[in-house]
Amino acid sequence: MTDFPERVFSGMQATGNLHLGNYLGAMLNWLRMQETHDCIYCVVDLHAITVWQDPQALAGNIREVTAAYIACGLDPEKSIIFNQSQVSAHAELAWVFNCVARLGWLNRMTQFKEKAGKDRENASIGLFVYPNLMAADILAYRATHVPVGEDQKQHLELSRDIAQKFNNDFAASIAAHGHGEAFFPLPKPMITGPATRVMSLRDGTRKMSKSEPSEYSRIDMTDDADTIAQKFRKARTDPEPLPSEPDGLKDRPEAENLVGIYAALAGMTKADVLKEYGGAQFSAFKPALSDLAVARLAPISTEMTRLKSDPAHIDGILADGAARAEAIAKPVMDAVKDIVGLLRTR
Ligand code: TYM
Repeated sequence: MTDFPERVFSGMQATGNLHLGNYLGAMLNWLRMQETHDCIYCVVDLHAITVWQDPQALAGNIREVTAAYIACGLDPEKSIIFNQSQVSAHAELAWVFNCVARLGWLNRMTQFKEKAGKDRENASIGLFVYPNLMAADILAYRATHVPVGEDQKQHLELSRDIAQKFNNDFAASIAAHGHGEAFFPLPKPMITGPATRVMSLRDGTRKMSKSEPSEYSRIDMTDDADTIAQKFRKARTDPEPLPSEPDGLKDRPEAENLVGIYAALAGMTKADVLKEYGGAQFSAFKPALSDLAVARLAPISTEMTRLKSDPAHIDGILADGAARAEAIAKPVMDAVKDIVGLLRTR
């Protein structure tokens, strides 16, 4: 198998405020990987429009998510930060992948089924082929590692299937164009930490999500201290005290979720948290959790407000990031065209 240099790619949708699930499930790993790898972090606006977005709000949301990235600690000097629609390779490669991926593969995507709901006939085609665009995002940079939350696992498997099928279908042409045995790497999902699937605070069996109507189901990155405390206070729990071992969290989804959130925020394992809080009632654990969340999130939210007051600065970061991203993706896209046999005369 061809060896590919390690490169990290990941993204979040430009649908406004980030929540604690995005932060603990993805961002913490993005920050860690930024220290050791070449990283590309994208604000995925083309994915956002697979469902209706108010045009004026969308532009604001792209800046908002960019501000959140930087406020969380992504460094635009070290990592490439840009919005997807500014680099045309994403849409171009997605088209090629629309022709590689099979209908049957996409029919199996559980997230489409969840998002389209009962009114499937009325869902956009974009929503259906959403995972193909995601594969294009990653593979336009021939990225090898993709830090994401648990909910993206199936999409990542599809990206690997698409990369593999492209490599197989075009094997002779790939070799003839001097790219060896494989043109695309099979990107690895990096799903690690104690909070890879942060659950709703109202229902421990549902994922914390932007689309959940109740604001009490999630902690937004911009929530102030009082709101955070109130949301944790109202979070659903069971009447038992916390166990002293992770095994005791089985069949206690709400308890498991809050312990996972604490562990991720504190940089501990669930086992360590339970060593400290085993036997404690939620009436004691919840205030400790709120204090910890406020201590971690308040500086981020202050920095976001500061950044958002200067949209030109954010636009400058996105422009610079897009130019650096394009410099990587354009040659990859040119090579794909050559491999597929799409004539380039300029
Ligand atoms: P999005 O915008 O829904 O979420 C961004 C990241 O946050 C993670 N996440 C969670 N992690 C733990 N618990 C939760 N409750 C939770 N909710 C969200 C997601 O797993 C994700 O890592 N399709 C992607 C965006 C995307 C992408 C890509 C990701 C587009 N192209 C290429 C990686 C590579 C999405 O909608 O994420």
